[in-house]
Amino acid sequence: MPAFDVDAIDLSALRERLSAKYQYFDADVIPAWVAEMDFPMAAPIAEALHAAIDRSDTGYRSAVGLADALADFARERWSWEIPTERITPIPDVLTGVAQALAMFTEPGDGVVVNTPVYAPFFSTVRDIARRVLVDVPMARSQEGAYDWDLDGLEAAFARPDVTAFLMSNPHNPTGSVPSRQSLAVIAELSARYGVTVISDEIHGPLALPGQRHVPFMSVADDDADAVILVSASKAWNLPGLKCAQLVGTARTAETIRRRLPLEVTYGTGHLGAIAAVVAYREGGPWLGDVVDILDGNRRLLADLLAEYLPLAGFVPPQASYLAWVDFRAYGLGDDPAAAFLERGRVALSSGPTYGAGGEGYARLNFATSPAILTEIVRRLAGVFQ
Ligand SMILES: Cc1ncc(COP(=O)(O)O)c(C=O)c1O
Repeated sequence: MPAFDVDAIDLSALRERLSAKYQYFDADVIPAWVAEMDFPMAAPIAEALHAAIDRSDTGYRSAVGLADALADFARERWSWEIPTERITPIPDVLTGVAQALAMFTEPGDGVVVNTPVYAPFFSTVRDIARRVLVDVPMARSQEGAYDWDLDGLEAAFARPDVTAFLMSNPHNPTGSVPSRQSLAVIAELSARYGVTVISDEIHGPLALPGQRHVPFMSVADDDADAVILVSASKAWNLPGLKCAQLVGTARTAETIRRRLPLEVTYGTGHLGAIAAVVAYREGGPWLGDVVDILDGNRRLLADLLAEYLPLAGFVPPQASYLAWVDFRAYGLGDDPAAAFLERGRVALSSGPTYGAGGEGYARLNFATSPAILTEIVRRLAGVFQ
């Protein structure tokens, strides 16, 4: 039996949530923007959180059991061996990225990103870390699928000012999963040019059928110049609980131990750490059901777009629940999400915020029920009637 009945998900109950997804827009808008899922929480996680509240266990985090739980999960799921002493709790992935940039690069250094990419990468690199963005746009196949431009990466890594590569693995917003071979090339380039790889693997547990997430450190040498960021927050929908994990390598762990401020790691949510341990240890069956639902929803979305918006370009993602949709043929200008919000009452994420190549695109979150997804696409199509 599935962990929950996806068809029982009800928009009016969802609207009672006080999280960003359901509070940011007016009540007549269906939110399909920020990466939160509409699914009910995994039962073992809910039980652990209720139990923590019942014992008034809301002090500072100890993160007891967290490193062991992640290490066991990573080994079983991805054959990635992480020595537990290299795992540090951190409030969230973006904090981890900012701290990694502070520890392994200097102000003014070039940091490679691959547009279109998760918009907060830009502000984290530029405004928080005061480093310089160096864009190596994602390459595209004739069918529109996105992949990493390895020649472009080599040319950028060879620049003397470039000292880090901030990689979204799997890639947000395109849903692309890098192959083991591509990651091996990136690892080799990183070693050759002395570029630190900061691999954001928050969507890793959500690789969809047909794909396997390949952690960067299951390909790179133990002494790679790398920092990996993982979290249970995306896969089990726990981002408000504030617990991610920063993983060092034999080469970077000592610097992390010396330089990562203690108060930063103590900013990790205690309830988040409790939830993450249970997610990694007992959340597998729930996650399996969610992956099946997302697999069904990405097919449903392709069918719905073909039926209602046949000019939209859509390559189903290989991981996670974000659809990167090309609306350029519909003449809605650079930011179709603005028109869909105003005239369709659906909130999508705005394509241009993902940088170059985002004009005319929008990102659609399909972690919802098939019925709500169908209503979303009907509303989008309604804009043209
Ligand atoms: C690629 C990527 N990195 C980081 C984040 C944010 O993670 P956190 O809330 O842990 O900072 C997200 C959220 O959607 C994301 O998609």
